[in-house]
Amino acid sequence: MTAPLKALTQPEASLEARLAARRVLRPLRTVVLGCGVVGGGVIERLPRPLVLTGILARTPRPAGAFPAPVFTNADALFETAPELVIEALPGGDEAEALLARAAGAGCHIVSANKDVAARRPDLIRAARAQGRAFAYSAAVGGGAPVLETVARLAASGAGVARVRGVLNGTSNYVLDRLWEGDSLEAAIAGAQAAGFAEADPSADLDGLDAANKLALIAREAWGADLDPAAIKRESIRELPAGAAAAARRQSRRLRQVGLLERSGARVTAQVRLEALAETDALARTRAEGNCVVLSPERGAQVIVAGKGAGRAPTAASIIGDLNRLIEAHCS
Ligand SMILES: NC(=O)c1ccc[n+]([C@@H]2O[C@H](COP(=O)([O-])OP(=O)(O)OC[C@H]3O[C@@H](n4cnc5c(N)ncnc54)[C@H](OP(=O)(O)O)[C@@H]3O)[C@@H](O)[C@H]2O)c1
Repeated sequence: MTAPLKALTQPEASLEARLAARRVLRPLRTVVLGCGVVGGGVIERLPRPLVLTGILARTPRPAGAFPAPVFTNADALFETAPELVIEALPGGDEAEALLARAAGAGCHIVSANKDVAARRPDLIRAARAQGRAFAYSAAVGGGAPVLETVARLAASGAGVARVRGVLNGTSNYVLDRLWEGDSLEAAIAGAQAAGFAEADPSADLDGLDAANKLALIAREAWGADLDPAAIKRESIRELPAGAAAAARRQSRRLRQVGLLERSGARVTAQVRLEALAETDALARTRAEGNCVVLSPERGAQVIVAGKGAGRAPTAASIIGDLNRLIEAHCS
């Protein structure tokens, strides 16, 4: 029996997909803070029914450069009365103040910013207490669904007993370059030229970025509030000379490893530098990759790996948060 050619080449959309396409969703007035690597990627793919009313940047843009006006003044941006704020600014006081303002104004928030998300659990609780979303999946793992997988394990009853991960792509890239024989300065310059190390990479190299991510994972897994600044850390800048060469001679890889363990009510966290055997999943994570090994209380280990940074994977993670928000709040 032969099937009609159309049926073979253009399968009909499923009933569910056709109903979803017809569903009337409530539009949501949306602003995006930052239009760089991450914000720019999100603006290109903003899902329906989000209506972009403004973008915040540091430097002015010509009219028509983006599909909504670009403001350099936050007061003017908030006059567009946003219901949803998507935040993709560098971490720090400015981003923190704007997220506090957005939460205070009763906006839903989707952020890529691990720094503020880790330091200000009060903002997240305040937003959620008002029935607003405050999501930050892109803050850990870039495009690798780390927080989503931790949430799934926690919700499924499997629980999470231990977390081990390469959480910072810049550090991983730098350690790989040291292993290949580069100096620290050349390795950092290489990461900056490749576009994923900031002008000041100290938060990456000193482990603070990884500590922020550990705090977010601990919150998702156990509802624990860890102070990232109090997490014990080892810095790549203090690696003994010759450590990378010694690791190479022993067929090992240097890795910045974030570690979380729970024993009863006690959670311990640290960021340390380890020389790992090549068979270890973290050793096999190359360049700017991220990899997290989750050991549940019940069941087998789960490994989540992917590109830890970059426009497309990070924007995709934010779009995932946006689609969940639309499902919950726009129907
Ligand atoms: N890049 C990644 O792969 C990645 C992955 C995961 C998470 N993240 C997080 O995502 C956030 C954004 O990172 P990014 O790589 O997109 O940074 P980026 O490319 O440097 O973009 C930052 C944006 O913020 C704007 N901005 C900076 N300071 C501002 C200020 N004071 N007022 C108004 N606007 C300001 C910049 O404006 P101008 O364009 O005018 O300079 C730019 O549009 C960070 O928190 C980062 O940690 C990034």
